[in-house]
Amino acid sequence: MKRCCIAVVLCLTSAFSLVSCTTAPGSKPQGRQDALESPPHAQEVVSEVSSRPAPAAPVLALLGAVRPEVTLLQSMLTDVKSQEIEGIEFISGRIGAEPVVLAWTGVGKVNAAMTTTLLLEHFHPTRVIFTGIAGGIDPNLEPGDIVIAKQTAYHDMGTLWSQGIEYGGVKSRMTGEPNPVFFPADPVLLGAAEEAAKSMTFGPVGLRTGQRPPKVVVGTVVTGDVFVASKEKSAELAKDLGASAVEMEGAAVAQLCCQRGVGCLVIRSISDKADRSAVMDKQLFYTMAAKNSAGLVAKIVGEGLKRGTE
Ligand code: ADE
Repeated sequence: MKRCCIAVVLCLTSAFSLVSCTTAPGSKPQGRQDALESPPHAQEVVSEVSSRPAPAAPVLALLGAVRPEVTLLQSMLTDVKSQEIEGIEFISGRIGAEPVVLAWTGVGKVNAAMTTTLLLEHFHPTRVIFTGIAGGIDPNLEPGDIVIAKQTAYHDMGTLWSQGIEYGGVKSRMTGEPNPVFFPADPVLLGAAEEAAKSMTFGPVGLRTGQRPPKVVVGTVVTGDVFVASKEKSAELAKDLGASAVEMEGAAVAQLCCQRGVGCLVIRSISDKADRSAVMDKQLFYTMAAKNSAGLVAKIVGEGLKRGTE
């Protein structure tokens, strides 16, 4: 019965989330009233956090959690300029003709949020792509396969009942608007990623039964402050949130972007299957997975995005 209620709450919050965060980059998100918090008071609503002028050239931001996740992209940069802000290095340059700014956030939601805040404040990117590795929740995914996130959600945000988590977002401190449970991907970036994936070539994925080219799927990526190495938790994430993959930063970046009306896309390649072998598998497949995900991002930047920056 409780599970049923949770499912209903999820359906409703999911529907609301599409309303809340599908605003065009640059516009203010609309929202719903949240179950966890009281209504916003007028005096709480702040119109703008920053009065800093935006830089002249529109810039695309590329983030990963740790350096190896953005190494491939960093190696492609020309006209490189490095800047340290609050101890975090931001590397600007171009990939082809596209002006980009690149950084690694550190692992976990708080690190991701902090770097994203600095990024949005100082570089005013038009859009943000997060690339990296993830644990596979969908049993059909193997290390090296890629999930393009059509949406991201926290798997550790809401009310924890004995029967399970009732997922719910908290309000934006800036606008008072409730955040959705699911942060939808920027449609331009999502389209560009799907397009780029069609003509992408990767190294083969190793299976027990042989080898095959990596799969690229569009799915839900969930985020939390734990490394998941549990078959039971994975099954719960699949059932309750429809997750294809789990990681530790994506929804935090998406929340910041959503609150500021900046388009965001999370792309992850599978390094492990979020089960009892996950810690070992991650070590084995980390480099290959990081490269596959960043490879797709490079392809998007190189060609797919041209449509989206007009
Ligand atoms: N990143 C890569 N694998 C992961 C896992 N199993 N859980 C959380 N984050 C991950």
